[in-house]
Amino acid sequence: MQKIAVIAGDGIGIDVTTEALKIMRCANEKFRLGLELIEFEYGADYFLKTGVGLPKGQMEDFRSNYAAVYLGALGDPRIPDMRHGREILLALRFDLDLYINLRPVKLLNVRLCPLKGKTKTDIDFVVFRENTEGPYVGAGGFLKKGTPDEVATQEAMHTRKGVERIIRAAFEYARLHRRKRVTMSDKSNVLRYGHDLWQRVFAEVGAEYPEIEKDHYFVDALVMKMVKSPEHFDVIVTENMLGDIITDLGAMLQGGLGMAGSGNIHPGRTSLFEPVHGSAPYMAGQNKANPIAAILTVAMMLDYLGKPNAAEAIEKAVQQAVDECQVTADVGGKLGTRECGDYIVSLLQRLH
Ligand SMILES: NC(=O)c1ccc[n+]([C@@H]2O[C@H](COP(=O)([O-])OP(=O)(O)OC[C@H]3O[C@@H](n4cnc5c(N)ncnc54)[C@H](O)[C@@H]3O)[C@@H](O)[C@H]2O)c1
Repeated sequence: MQKIAVIAGDGIGIDVTTEALKIMRCANEKFRLGLELIEFEYGADYFLKTGVGLPKGQMEDFRSNYAAVYLGALGDPRIPDMRHGREILLALRFDLDLYINLRPVKLLNVRLCPLKGKTKTDIDFVVFRENTEGPYVGAGGFLKKGTPDEVATQEAMHTRKGVERIIRAAFEYARLHRRKRVTMSDKSNVLRYGHDLWQRVFAEVGAEYPEIEKDHYFVDALVMKMVKSPEHFDVIVTENMLGDIITDLGAMLQGGLGMAGSGNIHPGRTSLFEPVHGSAPYMAGQNKANPIAAILTVAMMLDYLGKPNAAEAIEKAVQQAVDECQVTADVGGKLGTRECGDYIVSLLQRLH
């Protein structure tokens, strides 16, 4: 028995997690996965009631007793500084040391792609974004804050261990999934210290994988290439902030935020899976949000948990729903969130 913690969160996180749960329950039964799904009410309402994102001891409970955490989305206009988001999502990423942010970019149907003339085989790559270092570690400060002489600093941190483990993870993935090339992206032409470390470690670790092609693009050149020739890419590895931006461009290439799933992973440990999108408060509760990102995220989670058959079946069901245009309005369909989720469940039930 593997325990999964499910946090729907806020806004459309609640809408899409309802559909993701239907898929989890259906797959659990159909494939006898032995998952125990436990729902938690953490999010904006809980924070406003209690003053904390997660209660004391909850992180330890997740770490010790759960195989994975599934999260819908966080974000609520009543908490403009997103403190609860930091206390839940960032705390999970940092406290559980989830150093791999894995974002597949896969086009399921040409009509979803904003690029002219690109096909499904052209847009099929994965991004390994470093998830615990870079400029997001919160190092920096203000001097003379609020005065005309104000100085603000924001430091980026890159450790040898941190850079090495994400680059190694990208190569291991490429080897396991028979991907032919790993591309590293940085800005080492101007960030001469931190990104120089990335250059050296990429060359060193890459040498251990002679069968895999390696190449490098400065991030500005990389985003141009992602638009002009996305077919070039198999596996991209990059640091935290650049990865944040690159992956949102990737989401657009595959049809928008409603189609993009992600994993925050530390191999062998409790990991966190969430659709890429936020809580889109203005469309919450209206049966409009696209549940596919959330459903593909379930497939990623099951794959991580060693259930590839169930993961593949969910992907297949989503593919069919997209091909038949049984989807929500953001991707050209006419269905509501619930109807789209139900349709994908019905396809999953019927698959052999
Ligand atoms: N990981 C997270 O939980 C996460 C990520 C990003 C933003 N946020 C938070 O979410 C809140 C809203 O942020 P935002 O508006 O910048 O980003 P958002 O992802 O919520 O929405 C951006 C745009 O994408 C569209 N969109 C997103 N998901 C969709 C879906 N499933 N179906 C159809 N359309 C979809 C929305 O219409 C919106 O126009 C903020 O509080 C922000 O801090 C949370």
